[in-house]
Amino acid sequence: MTAALPSDLPSDLVEDLGRCAGGQATAHSLPTACYVDADVAALEAEVVFRRGWVGVGRGDRWASPGDYAALDVGGVPVAVVRGDDGVLRAFANTCSHRFAQVVEGEGSCTRMRCPFHAWTYALDGRLVGAPSMARTDGFDRTEHGLHEFVVAERLGFAFVSLEASPPSIDAWLGDAAEVHARWDLTSMVTTRRREFTVDCNWKAFAEVFNEYYHLPYVHPGSIDDTYDDPDEPEAVTGAWATHFGTTQGTGGLLEDDQDKALPVIGGLDEREARGVRYSWLFPSLVIATGAEGLWMYEVFPDGPDRCRCAQVVCFPPETVAADGFAEVAESYYERFDVAIAEDIPMLERQRRGMATPFARQGRFSYLEPNVARFAGWYAERLLSVG
Ligand code: FES
Ligand SMILES: [Fe+2]
Repeated sequence: MTAALPSDLPSDLVEDLGRCAGGQATAHSLPTACYVDADVAALEAEVVFRRGWVGVGRGDRWASPGDYAALDVGGVPVAVVRGDDGVLRAFANTCSHRFAQVVEGEGSCTRMRCPFHAWTYALDGRLVGAPSMARTDGFDRTEHGLHEFVVAERLGFAFVSLEASPPSIDAWLGDAAEVHARWDLTSMVTTRRREFTVDCNWKAFAEVFNEYYHLPYVHPGSIDDTYDDPDEPEAVTGAWATHFGTTQGTGGLLEDDQDKALPVIGGLDEREARGVRYSWLFPSLVIATGAEGLWMYEVFPDGPDRCRCAQVVCFPPETVAADGFAEVAESYYERFDVAIAEDIPMLERQRRGMATPFARQGRFSYLEPNVARFAGWYAERLLSVG
């Protein structure tokens, strides 16, 4: 875990990153080293994932006490678990005895038990069982609990920070809560979560979800006709970006399935009720708040050339409770699967195209403001966090 520092970056990369500020009209795209270079990936793990806040998914992935999941945040094994008191916590997923990963995968437990020598931790991280330690001088279980990280739940999302003293989560999210207020994201219920991997850098995956530019070329016949030209880019505060656009019918269904629309969310204003807001909660959550619900991806690096993704679909509780919901929801899932299946070959093609020293930084269209804002944020993280 020896971290590279920004001062270790080659001077030409520093110069290239300096061209990423300012938004879509003036910024250059991130240099390809940010997508292909292992040294940049190591620095990224340090300054993008092990500092600040990282969204790790919807809070209802840990719906009940004892629900846990083993995650990788910036190369650090992390166990996220909901306590008996209902509080979501995160711990270093590293046993205090001799370092085995304590939990794997996801599930539900009453205690977290390391399979190596059976040290056992309560859901709040205290070491509550350590067999055959009676002859060990001065051994005090209270000194050997799991290392705890800071967790916050906002808008129904779970955020973890590996920093000892992170910035305020509310300052980090800026005006995201205000902009999304009418969707009542906190109450939304996850009805589908599907994991997969893609052979591309995690940023490329997040980017394609966030831009309207590719719709006519990559999604003709499936979703392109649904989307109008989007609104002007919006200025926001905090570590996120957003872009709203109206739709013909709903963005949550394929063009041929528009008659299957679920009810529109009650509190939306007139334009929100006929459009989709695409937002990127930097670095790892990309979300679309549509007229009927929320669809999103968790996206994390698995080396520079591969990413681990989870598609998550949520609807308001009253929609989920209505008769016939499960059947209609399948049409929504199909639309999300079809679109991503159209994106993936292009992401792989993009990866093949960028793995060369002859790839130069590009420029952005007015249809890519979220991508441009992320490029500026990311470049600044790499350059300024020493
Ligand atoms: S490494 Fe976990 S109990 Fe020994
Ligand atoms: Fe797409």
